[in-house]
Amino acid sequence: MLETLLTRRSCRKFIDKAVEAEKKEKLLQAAQLGPTGRTIRPWEFVVIENKETLQKLGDCRKPNQPFLPETPLAIVVLANTQATDTWIEDAAIAAVIIQLEAEKLGLGSCWVQIRLRESNQGLSSEEHVRKLLGIPEHLAVLSIIAVGYPAGTKPAHTLAEVEQAKIHTETY
Ligand SMILES: Cc1cc2nc3c(=O)[nH]c(=O)nc-3n(C[C@H](O)[C@H](O)[C@H](O)COP(=O)(O)O)c2cc1C
Repeated sequence: MLETLLTRRSCRKFIDKAVEAEKKEKLLQAAQLGPTGRTIRPWEFVVIENKETLQKLGDCRKPNQPFLPETPLAIVVLANTQATDTWIEDAAIAAVIIQLEAEKLGLGSCWVQIRLRESNQGLSSEEHVRKLLGIPEHLAVLSIIAVGYPAGTKPAHTLAEVEQAKIHTETY
């Protein structure tokens, strides 16, 4: 896992190649196998590959997220806010697990923040995505995970980034 964490970098440039069905399935399986508060599993996902929808999704943020229209696969991470008070944590864990599984499968990914952000048209990012995709009100839109085969590589993280000063032993 440490190796996966070191090599994973946010990817915002993808080659024009679809993510294979088996890999897509693994990403969505991984998303639902992480830890959750009280095993309530409040998440749902919208899988998008349609170019026209991806184009419209690009305006979900101000300034727009120019890589979204070029992303082969976008996974919108939703959570039922009425199901549990740990919906943010549960959905964030699922989103990160998608990113880590993507790395293991040779795919690149990037988190696009939706919660608490604004769209290009002055709506909340959440409302933009909700209207575009027909998402019901009880589901919050946490993020979109853009996934695809990376165009190019970025330097891996290194253990030098780990700050010993952030680790406290026994007491703060
Ligand atoms: C909560 C969260 C929100 C993020 N929001 C965005 C975003 O809206 N757009 C974007 O391009 N990257 C976004 N990122 C990716 C970060 O910019 C990126 O993870 C960070 O710069 C560290 O780089 P690395 O992922 O290559 O290690 C987000 C990441 C997280 C965890």
